[in-house]
Amino acid sequence: MPRIALTREVSESIARCELTHLEREPIDVGRARAQHAAYESALRTLGCRVERVEPAPDDLDSVFIEDTAVVFPELAIITRPGALSRRGETAAVAQTLAPYRRNVNIQSPGTLDGGDVLVASRTVFVGQSARTNARGIEQIRQVASPLGYTVIGIRVTGCLHLKSAVTEVAEGTLLLQPRWVDPAPFDGFDTIEVDSDDLYGANALRIGSRVIYPTAFPKTAARLAAHGISLHLVEADELAKAEGAVTCCCLMFEA
Ligand code: GLY
Repeated sequence: MPRIALTREVSESIARCELTHLEREPIDVGRARAQHAAYESALRTLGCRVERVEPAPDDLDSVFIEDTAVVFPELAIITRPGALSRRGETAAVAQTLAPYRRNVNIQSPGTLDGGDVLVASRTVFVGQSARTNARGIEQIRQVASPLGYTVIGIRVTGCLHLKSAVTEVAEGTLLLQPRWVDPAPFDGFDTIEVDSDDLYGANALRIGSRVIYPTAFPKTAARLAAHGISLHLVEADELAKAEGAVTCCCLMFEA
């Protein structure tokens, strides 16, 4: 079964993107695009078929396609992003997903960003953040619980999304930034904490037995390697200025 990774090009105007926890600084679009292309190459190297959703140059954050949907084997939830400026991003993604999955839409007043949703086995952790509200979490629960998933809401403070603070790096193993998320709800999982120097180091993209991980966090990378995690390193610092990380730049699912 092919593994598909949907991506979307870096907007020419990404420097005017949404920012919540970062100071605005200039973004070199050429460099961001080169890093994005290298990231897409990494996805291909690790076995994904990369499909680009149609460009959305006026949707400044559209490269961060993860936030527009949550794709389960059974169906896709089309989100209602918490940032008003991002609401227009979902339509083209829904259209692209339609041949692969039945789409279910998050309805107003619910808001949900895909970056707040961590699916680990049959547990769905959903961050209640500046972007995802309690109504959004309730709607994802109504959809996912009948499918046999356990949905757990988690408060997120200090960072943009739940997956800024915790991601899965191997079956049953989570990489976690304890400054931003309470480890208690993840009882039953093995956890690896980021190095204290790597504030933004908890976002890693697992593809089977490999993990795409930024070059910017060598101490945490060494920690992951010591745990037997096989890393494929990518430069992502230019996109990080737009408050995006490696999970944010694709939507991955099996066709
Ligand atoms: N710039 C990424 C976001 O705020 O959604």
